[in-house]
Amino acid sequence: MTPGLQRLLITGGAGFIGSNFVRHWLQTHGTPVVVLDALTYAGNRANLGDLEAQFSDQLTFVKGDIGDRPLVESLLQQNNIDTVVHFAAESHVDRSILGPGAFVQTNVVGTFTLLEAFRQYWRDLGQPDQMRFHHVSTDEVYGSLSPADPAFYRTHPLRPQ
Ligand SMILES: NC(=O)c1ccc[n+]([C@@H]2O[C@H](COP(=O)([O-])OP(=O)(O)OC[C@H]3O[C@@H](n4cnc5c(N)ncnc54)[C@H](O)[C@@H]3O)[C@@H](O)[C@H]2O)c1
Repeated sequence: MTPGLQRLLITGGAGFIGSNFVRHWLQTHGTPVVVLDALTYAGNRANLGDLEAQFSDQLTFVKGDIGDRPLVESLLQQNNIDTVVHFAAESHVDRSILGPGAFVQTNVVGTFTLLEAFRQYWRDLGQPDQMRFHHVSTDEVYGSLSPADPAFYRTHPLRPQ
């Protein structure tokens, strides 16, 4: 297994992709997971219901906002998190036309808050190499791939669509 990946903070883990990732992670790796999710209209704790029963020692659910820096800091420190997997988002583009505020607050300000909290925590620990912050975003960031193209990498030029 890649270094790190021993104690995960998964944001948006009650949503569509996040909950499936939590399921996959616990069933294939089984290392401890803290899910931070605000349970907006898009989140459903029942997505994790069977996992909370089956993996009660490994899975901790926290209802809260990624923009709540003191909360994020305490979760990082108290759980010795080495990896953040960030799924929490306002994800339905049509809703952003009617109400863009929540999108800016969560996708921009919330993500920034999470990044800054993790960066400070990583610095306080002496900047260990094995710590990772994975931001699950959208294919729209890097543009389009055809099936035969190699996968995007984080150094790939940004070509938002
Ligand atoms: N679903 C797709 O097909 C798809 C495709 C490509 C990329 N993505 C990206 O993957 C990510 C997750 O997508 P999804 O489909 O699982 O979304 P989703 O809407 O199903 O889930 C988002 C989750 O984030 C939580 N959340 C929202 N705001 C929050 C906040 N401020 N603090 C904490 N939790 C909060 C919600 O309660 C919900 O559980 C998004 O960035 C999305 O753009 C999704």
